[in-house]
Amino acid sequence: MPVIMPIYGTRPEAIKMAPIIEALKRSEHFDCVVTVTGQHRAMLDQVNELFGINPDHDLNIIQPGQTLSSIMTRTIDGLSTLFETAKPDAVIVQGDTTTSTAAAISAFYQGIPVVHVEAGLRSGDLRSPFPEEANRKITSQIASLHLAPTQTSKANLLAEMVAEEDIVVTGNTVIDALLATAEKWVPFSDKRLEELAKSGRRILLVTMHRRENQGDIMRGIGRALARIAEAEPELVIVWPAHKNPAVRESVLPAVEGKPNVVVTEPLAYGEFTRLLGISYIVLTDSGGVQEEAPSLGKPVLVMRDNTERPEAVEAGAVALLGTDENRIVMEVNRLLNDSARFDAMANAVNPYGDGQAAARTIAALSQLLGLGSRVEEFAAANR
Ligand code: UD1
Ligand code: UDP
Repeated sequence: MPVIMPIYGTRPEAIKMAPIIEALKRSEHFDCVVTVTGQHRAMLDQVNELFGINPDHDLNIIQPGQTLSSIMTRTIDGLSTLFETAKPDAVIVQGDTTTSTAAAISAFYQGIPVVHVEAGLRSGDLRSPFPEEANRKITSQIASLHLAPTQTSKANLLAEMVAEEDIVVTGNTVIDALLATAEKWVPFSDKRLEELAKSGRRILLVTMHRRENQGDIMRGIGRALARIAEAEPELVIVWPAHKNPAVRESVLPAVEGKPNVVVTEPLAYGEFTRLLGISYIVLTDSGGVQEEAPSLGKPVLVMRDNTERPEAVEAGAVALLGTDENRIVMEVNRLLNDSARFDAMANAVNPYGDGQAAARTIAALSQLLGLGSRVEEFAAANR
């Protein structure tokens, strides 16, 4: 039986890989050997626990203040040793983290086929998001199978001369994870959130972590949040803070102590999707949250200058704000007070998937290994 090794290291990879691991484990045709790098620790373990995944191998590479070079070298080194004994027939990597690209390079060096999930996203700016845009492009150079979430991402790959027969449009597995998780009600472990859920107050859900926004830009975002909280006392801002100390140090000083700002630890995925479901507006720089929120009918304001996820912007559910403090305050205020604009953005669209992306992934993998024939691609429903 072919040995398939999903490799991942951070929270979003874990969420998006979980439906694939579940499908692989259910399949009688593959031996699934799960490997984590441990680029994240608490935030990775939180997801594995929720989905009942016990990794077979854990490189545990995380270091406080880790650098891109250390993530890259520790992953390549650790995996090259592991590949000698585990001998995977193919590896699966997801997205654009440094774990993902390092794993692809390590496998490529040993002649192991690389399956790239969420292939073909492009912002068009090599420095933003940094280093993710470069990571994705590097992985596209060496992957044997490119699983594009949308037709747009497939077109990006074709424009870079990737052969059409090596691309399959699957939809994004984040929607599989979201649909499976959102239907299970979970209590909030933080009592403040349970009280907030009962209160019916409007919630502005905030997440941020991007490397290129850390420092001055995030200090400005912190000031913007403080101004919004003061101007809108009935609104509650909830910020599940990323574990990265660099993010917390920049934003916390401006918002700490504000009565209508709730800062929490990273929420378990079930709790986060519940919070998303009861939020009014989402303000974020996250990739995954940009994909999930439109499916739940939540308007998303993105604190970035560009996006590799244009589908929901085109559909009107996501607006790109940039990162200027005044603009963030103005746009949140506009959306809170302009119901026509709110309704237009909240009209649920689901351009990223139909919950069947993992099944298409397994079928495409079967084809790669000569065990099956080409699968029907995902086609997004029109609005
Ligand atoms: C990483 C990915 C980014 C992805 C993001 C998802 C890279 C270069 N970046 O960025 O693409 O969007 O994850 O969140 O691959 N930390 C902990 N515990 C954790 C997680 C993080 O303590 O569970 C702290 C550590 O101090 C670590 C720091 O956060 O040094 C930054 O983590 P790192 O993975 O280097 O970068 P992210 O910004 O999380
Ligand atoms: N998420 C979570 N708990 C939180 C915040 C986010 O489970 O407290 C989930 C969110 O639903 C999404 C993913 O984490 O699926 C996004 O992760 P992140 O923003 O860290 O990374 P990105 O998607 O930008 O790579």
